[in-house]
Amino acid sequence: MAPTSQLDDTLLRCIGCGAVTPVAESGLNCDKCGDLLEVVFPHPGMASGKLDPGSLKALWKERRSSRLPQDQSGVWRFREMLPSLGKELPITLREGNTPLYELSLCSRITGVRQLYAKHQGMNPTGSFKDTGMTVASSFARKDGFRWVACASTGNTSASMAAYAARGGMYSLVLIPEGKISWGKLSQSLDYGAVTCQVKTDFDGCMRVLNGIVKRMPIYVLNSINPFRLEGQKTVAFELMEQFDWQPPDHIVVPGGNLGNSSALGKAFQEMKDLGLITRFPKISIIQAEGANPLVRTIREKGGKELVSVKAETMATAIRIGSPASWKKALRILEATGGTVEQVSEVEIALAKAEIGADGIGCEPASAVTLAGLKKLVKQGFVKPDESVVLVLTGHVLKDPDFTLKFHRGDLFTGTAYEKDAQILKPRQRAPIVLEASVDAVLNALEHAEKQN
Ligand code: F0G
Repeated sequence: MAPTSQLDDTLLRCIGCGAVTPVAESGLNCDKCGDLLEVVFPHPGMASGKLDPGSLKALWKERRSSRLPQDQSGVWRFREMLPSLGKELPITLREGNTPLYELSLCSRITGVRQLYAKHQGMNPTGSFKDTGMTVASSFARKDGFRWVACASTGNTSASMAAYAARGGMYSLVLIPEGKISWGKLSQSLDYGAVTCQVKTDFDGCMRVLNGIVKRMPIYVLNSINPFRLEGQKTVAFELMEQFDWQPPDHIVVPGGNLGNSSALGKAFQEMKDLGLITRFPKISIIQAEGANPLVRTIREKGGKELVSVKAETMATAIRIGSPASWKKALRILEATGGTVEQVSEVEIALAKAEIGADGIGCEPASAVTLAGLKKLVKQGFVKPDESVVLVLTGHVLKDPDFTLKFHRGDLFTGTAYEKDAQILKPRQRAPIVLEASVDAVLNALEHAEKQN
């Protein structure tokens, strides 16, 4: 890493041994024990008067009508909760400000009467990564880096490439060859990144990146970067604003490298410490059965040591076997009373189609939330009269291949799931190829009505 310049009063704390160091003297891991770091909050020198809950809520609301880029950003609008850029302006694409939708069809399916989606796929590059990227890329530029880099399953790289371009930095992307969606790959090409399809999986890309960092000054923008998580915290502030500062009973998130769940948890902890809220929502994390290291870590090792897996899932965004932030995520589950669950490939595909049929849509990794919720309701962990927010992490257009194959009915052809996939049929809407005649279209409509 080797940041090159600038005085910064941000402090980082090691999540393992608790050692606190100024950011200018830190890499991405603790010098003493090698564990991950997190930004210490409140920030040094922050007058407690600046953190009065009533004044903060009013200030954040007021900024909504401002024309300044940093106020129009749904991340920097909450800048009292973020490390300070001093006099520098952030690199912003006006990220955040994402909608909270009621899910009526999914509510009927799950029996959960108050069911919402916080759609982070509505960010500028189509995923929640933008909320973290605006912060971390701004710090990279402030620290004088020319190059930024990440290993990615596609969304981090798309986001990083965009923010690097906006900030006048070069970007290096390492993605697993053939294992990310074309939509995501095309984004990082368009934004001008040096995009390497590496012949390995995500965990292998991460190992290569760790080697590169030792050889050249390059700023790592994966979620082990504590500044990324600071930005990702803001979804929780925004959500609480949308709920008039009354937390829902449950928040359900997908788990990949486990940065997002960690960021959410940190945000709720800080809001509670400041008196912005009085209780925690239960934060639960859902993984794909074939990429379930956190589930196994808890069930097989009681959370004591990480069980790495060889990850395999069609929800390629969360195809991660050795998640970096597993300890942070465990802490959040414990603090908020949340749980973990895993869902099958067919369950993910069905849930994605149901979110689509609700007129919302999302990418496969986001749909694990609904699939997981169904299980949590069945287990009695979530009660029908409790309020639930699903965090949808990526836009439906991120992975059109998956969606097309689903509706054509060949998503699971030739796989072990072919028989189970029969339950998907009622949700499939294959495109219809017709002669150019009114009768042909009317016949198709008649057929469709019978089907519904
Ligand atoms: N959902 C989507 C759409 C993602 O892209 C990711 C992670 C996750 C969920 C999981 O979030 O890693 O914070 O637990 N994507 C990363 C990437 C790994 O490289 O784009 P997490």
